[in-house]
Order: sequence, then C-alpha cells, then structure tokens
Amino acid sequence: TETDKTKADPVVVDFDGGIAFVTLNRPEKRNAMNPALNRRMMEVLDELEGDERCGVLVLRGAGSSWSAGMDLKEYFRDNDGKGRHVTLKSRRQSGGWWNRLMFFEKPTIAMVNGWCFGGAFTPLVACDLAIAANEATFGLSEINWGILPGGNVTRAVAEVMNHRDSLYYIMTGETFGGEKAREMGLVNESVPLADLEARVRQICASLLEKNPVTLKAAKDTFKRVRNMPWDLADDYIYAKLEQMLYLDKTRGRDEGLKQFLDDKTYRPGLGAYKR
Ligand code: ACO
Repeated sequence: TETDKTKADPVVVDFDGGIAFVTLNRPEKRNAMNPALNRRMMEVLDELEGDERCGVLVLRGAGSSWSAGMDLKEYFRDNDGKGRHVTLKSRRQSGGWWNRLMFFEKPTIAMVNGWCFGGAFTPLVACDLAIAANEATFGLSEINWGILPGGNVTRAVAEVMNHRDSLYYIMTGETFGGEKAREMGLVNESVPLADLEARVRQICASLLEKNPVTLKAAKDTFKRVRNMPWDLADDYIYAKLEQMLYLDKTRGRDEGLKQFLDDKTYRPGLGAYKR
C-alpha cells in the first residue's frame, strides 16, 4: 500500500491494487467535517479523477467513526456572526465535494466503519454503493440540537429511504445500526466490522474487471434518469449509450460480442468479457 500525504492531513489517500482508500482523518474529532477537511476533499477528488491508481474510490473513516457529521464548532458556531457570505462559502465547500462525489468519474463505495451522523448522510448517499459494519451507528441527530437536516441531507434520505422511515428518524433523532440501515435501503449490505474491508475489496475486484467508461456511463445514467419522464429518459439513455461508445477507445462492446459469439470464451450472463 502506498500512502500519499502525511497522517496529520484531514484526508489521507492510500492506493492498493486499483483501489484508492480515501480516509476522513480527524479521528480525535470523530472525523467531523470542518472547513479544512471539506477544502481538502475537493482537491483529493480533483487529484483522483485523473489518477490511474484509482480504479475505485472507497471512502472510509479513521478510528471509531465514519463521520460525526458537520463540525459543530468549526462549521457552525465559529462562523456565527462572521456574516452571511462566510456561511455561504462554508456551505459551498461541503456541498461542492458531495456533488462531485455523486457523479465521480470512478465507482465509489462508502465503507461505513463507525459513527455516521447528520451531514455525513449526504456523502454516504452520494457514493454509488455503501457497505456498513453491523456495529456502525447512524443517526439524523440534527433534531437533537435544534436544526433540521440541511446540506441536502433531507434530500439524500428521501432518495434512498421510504417516507415513513425517513420521517421517523428525521423527527426522533434515534440511532440505528448497520443491519437496520440495510433493511431500510440506506446501505447495500451490513457485515461484521471484522469482515468489512474484505467485503468491500471483493466488490472492488468485481468493479475493476469492468470497462470503466461503461461503468461511469451506467451509474450516471441511473442517477439522472430516475427523475425524468419516460420519453426523456429513453432519449437520454440512448444519448449516454452513444456517448459511451464514442468515448470508449477500447471498443469494449464489440470485443464483448466477439468473445462470446466468435471466440466462445465467456458467457455474458455469468461474468464480464476479458479486457
Ligand atoms: N463536531 C465537532 N466536534 C465533534 C463532533 C462534531 N460533529 N463530533 C465529535 N466531536 C468532538 C467532540 O467535541 C470531542 O472533542 P474534544 O475531545 O475536543 O472534547 C471529540 O470529538 C470526541 O467526542 P466524544 O463525544 O467525546 O466521543 P464519543 O466517542 O464519546 O462519542 C459521538 C462519539 C457519539 C459521535 C459524539 O461525539 C457525538 O454525538 N458527536 C456529534 C454527532 C452529531 O450530532 N453530529 C452533527 C450532526 S448534524 C449535522 O451534521 C448538520
């Protein structure tokens, strides 16, 4: 494993076999997102976009936490009284990297190893996939300290959880574990913490076999078309498909057809063609 940057950085990146492990690295503050972390995450995403060592991005937290949400001191109270422009700038910095993450060039997996509160739900939902530890603890704790879930947390929750579950947790602020998160559709799977990294690596291996141009087109298309009317969706999907064929200089589609129809070396129903 190669590591970029020093351990004192709010975000640390480790590369291993095509995976970029991006670690929120303020364990002493339970990886609460402060302005320095938010600014750094934006840079990290820019750097990883063109980095060949990153085939899949895994977002994880150092220590006992994935992320305890926004930094209640540095993001909220320290900005109070500094003028609205300071608050707005701070919001843009966090929202900026979450939006980048939502449509990142590479597949993204949230590996939820511990506490996950409030503002952390937006990057959680922005990741394409999410795998939690059974031991992880989630909560929409905003109500507990007197605000509503901002930073698009409310929207993120509505994207993946149903109406009743969303309102229950928004209004009670009760915590729930990884298995409950799985049951409600907030994460794909929940596994014992001891197995978390191995399971995430297994999924990464499957994604790394796939054509990256196709993966990017497929995930973006899903995220975009779900809010479109039927006819626009149909048109958009074909526009994406044809863009993908243009961008894929390896001509993966033709190769996939050849390996099945002519070479008979694989079965598309059962696995990916050999790149
Ligand atoms: N913002 C700022 N500091 C935080 C945050 C946070 N969100 N979360 C933890 N910290 C700090 C604590 O202030 C403490 O700092 P200190 O050592 O300088 O006193 C340190 O991290 C450790 O926190 P503890 O509470 O001692 O850790 P513990 O492991 O006992 O509890 C827990 C962890 C449950 C995550 C607790 O820290 C907590 O409730 N944090 C707040 C979670 C939250 O509600 N976040 C906001 C969501 S709303 C939003 O994001 C908009």
